[in-house]
Amino acid sequence: MENKAKILIIDDEEVVLDSCMLILEGGNYDVATEMDGTVGLKTVAEFQPDLVCVDLKMPGISGLEVLEKIHSLDPTIVTIVITGYATVTSAVEAMKKGAYDFIPKPFTPDEFRLIIRRGIERRKLMLETIALRREKEMLRENFAAIVSHELKSPLGAVKQNMFVLMAELSANINESQKNRLDRMMVRIDDLLKLIHSWLRVLSVDIEKVKENFTPLSLPPLIVKAIECVDPQATRKNVEIVTQIGAPLNPFDGDEVSFVEALVNIIGNAVKYSYAGSQVIVSASEKDGVIEIAISDQGVGISKEELPLIFGDFYRGQSGERIEDSHGLGLTISRRILEAHNATLSAESEPEKGTRIIISLPISSNQG
Ligand SMILES: Nc1ncnc2c1ncn2[C@@H]1O[C@H](COP(=O)(O)OP(=O)(O)OP(=O)(O)O)[C@@H](O)[C@H]1O
Ligand SMILES: [Mg+2]
Repeated sequence: MENKAKILIIDDEEVVLDSCMLILEGGNYDVATEMDGTVGLKTVAEFQPDLVCVDLKMPGISGLEVLEKIHSLDPTIVTIVITGYATVTSAVEAMKKGAYDFIPKPFTPDEFRLIIRRGIERRKLMLETIALRREKEMLRENFAAIVSHELKSPLGAVKQNMFVLMAELSANINESQKNRLDRMMVRIDDLLKLIHSWLRVLSVDIEKVKENFTPLSLPPLIVKAIECVDPQATRKNVEIVTQIGAPLNPFDGDEVSFVEALVNIIGNAVKYSYAGSQVIVSASEKDGVIEIAISDQGVGISKEELPLIFGDFYRGQSGERIEDSHGLGLTISRRILEAHNATLSAESEPEKGTRIIISLPISSNQG
């Protein structure tokens, strides 16, 4: 709102309109007035005000109705209700319907100026919040584009060239040189994996995930996820045990992304476990909700950190101790599970272990 703030006043009493105009004269405002609700609504569409003052008691269309229509037209327009003393209850009603404030008649110039100033401030904040949100979205999209174009493709090309070079040189290099080249290749692969995860975080499109929803049975998906994590568990000598209760109803989901979410969470349980311990994956159903719990006996998470672990890119103390930790797994999982209308929660005790709980509603046509 670099220019004058636009204010529309709708009141059937000419004297009120005149006095409002007079009070606001000289302020940085562009003021329009209407004496009737229906005409007022037309003016809202054309004039696009930042703030509208509406008299609640007018002949014809009621002030409350005008309010509702303004909010459905543009919920960021700030509305202030003008009311007689006798109608304070309806002013409260109006505020429940989204009016920002109300001013009883008769009001003093100072009272009116103050309420208008606060209303305009409110509108400014709302527009700023919307602009920031848009900017954040754009940053996210631009970042994804930068990561994929500027990093992924050249790295892919480096890897391709390395392959060729290694084949050409194989006869002429010694063992230690070969080992060095192999290590470079592993590092490049790690980087490509990391970039892939970044892109995944930035591009999990909830609506797209929902498009592929079909009724799914949970137990086979748990089996698939455990298969993916198994090599890591074997290396660490961690045993993964499943405990699945009575038959579970199907849920609506996207198989590939749901398994990905499980792999991340079971993978964490293994990664943050002590060698020789157990990870238990259990599932049971109650009142139309499937509860999946992944419990480990690992390093645990402190009370301070626990509320943060599902946040974007959050890497905790336990993660910092491990090289292969980027704070991406739970971000991806949370997004995917949210698309499944599931909620995630965590309980943990340092040095004792962690339990991640997924509450997943069953298919709507079941139960
Ligand atoms: N089962 C667990 N036990 C202990 N700490 C955990 C556990 N699961 C998650 N955390 C903590 O939460 C943080 C975020 O987890 P997240 O899976 O998002 O990232 P990460 O494991 O660090 O890296 P990656 O991107 O490879 O998954 C971790 O850094 C770790 O500190
Ligand atoms: Mg992880």
